[in-house]
Formats: sequence, structure tokens, C-alpha cells
Amino acid sequence: MKTFDGYLFDEIRLPAELSVNELKEAAFISEKKNLILYGNVGTGKTHLATAIGIEACNRGKTVRFFRTATLVNQLGDAQKKGELNRFLKQLSKADLLICDEWGYVPLDRDGSKLLFQVISDCYEQRSVIITTNLEFSKWVNIFYDEQMTAAMIDRLVHHSYLLLFDGQSYRIKNSLMKSYP
Ligand SMILES: Nc1ncnc2c1ncn2[C@@H]1O[C@H](COP(=O)(O)OP(=O)(O)O)[C@@H](O)[C@H]1O
Ligand SMILES: [Mg+2]
Repeated sequence: MKTFDGYLFDEIRLPAELSVNELKEAAFISEKKNLILYGNVGTGKTHLATAIGIEACNRGKTVRFFRTATLVNQLGDAQKKGELNRFLKQLSKADLLICDEWGYVPLDRDGSKLLFQVISDCYEQRSVIITTNLEFSKWVNIFYDEQMTAAMIDRLVHHSYLLLFDGQSYRIKNSLMKSYP
């Protein structure tokens, strides 16, 4: 469970319209805005997404957190069992959907379609946070088709704040190896 306790914002670039305090209060959820946390691995994206999710829960919001690949698998399984609508309905009860590690695993056609459906359903209804190390121009490599990728980016980016994580990996910075010459 990661919280804002001890979390450093020094190496994260926020857009001018968004302050650290607003972020800590998860205020963007009431505005149905999205957050895109973009940057290299180990720079604190999952930690921040988790901290925001916990804060939102404390404020009475319903939050679902998924690793994106797991969400896609669960969607696929639900579809096979004829339970897709039920699963989508469950998702639609959340005020905030967090998709961690977006774009780490390429998706097949059905997987891309299902994820697109989830993102489309959220558009202007619910907030989404995605964490990714993939710039928009490379999204087409992980989603099956170019048109769907463009539509997905369009929906996510409209009403969203982009946070840039351009520090060095905390995992490497804090690893034991650094004490070697
Ligand atoms: N800004 C930060 N302040 C405090 N700890 C951090 C920060 N960024 C990363 N960490 C720590 O470094 C590790 C890697 O962070 P993580 O959120 O998993 O990175 P990412 O999701 O970007 O790969 C975690 O243990 C996390 O708690
Ligand atoms: Mg992560």
C-alpha cells in the first residue's frame, strides 16, 4: 500500500493547471478528468497512481486498479463466459479506473477492442489514470489497428492531465549496486 507519505514530487512535471495539492486531493475525479502518467520505469508512476487511488477511496470514491494486461485478460475471459456485460457494468460503477503498465504488453485484435470499449465507456463519465512508458506515437505498435489507436488517444487525451516523470529510476538509484565502484 503506497501513500503520499514520503513521496517526492521533485522530478515530476505537472501541467500548469494542476497543483500537487489538487493531485493529493484527487480533485480531478469530480471533474471526470484523466491522468496520464508518462515516463521511464522506476520513476514512481505506479506509486503515485496507488496513492491517488487510496486517497480517492478515503474520500468515498469507488476505485478499481488493474495492471492493463490483467484487465484485458479478465475482459476476454468474461466475454468467453458470456459475462462481458456484467463485468463492464461492474467497471462502470467505479469513479476511478486505474490502468497500470499501459502498453507494456502488445494486445491482439480482440484485446484491443475490449480495452477500447472500456475507455470509451469512461469518456466524460468516469476518470481514468494510466501509467505508461510509451509515447503516443508508439501506441499503434501495441494496439491492433491504427484507427482504433487514434480513437483511443483522442478519448483519453481530451480532458486529461499529462504528468511527466523524467527522473532516474528509484529502483536503480536505491539499489545495492550503487555502492560498487
Ligand atoms: N517520487 C518518489 N518518491 C518516493 N518514492 C518513490 C518515488 N518514485 C518512486 N519511488 C519508489 O521507487 C520504487 C519504484 O516506483 P514505481 O512507482 O514502481 O515506478 P514505476 O511505476 O514508474 O515503474 C517504488 O518502491 C516507489 O515507492
Ligand atoms: Mg509501475
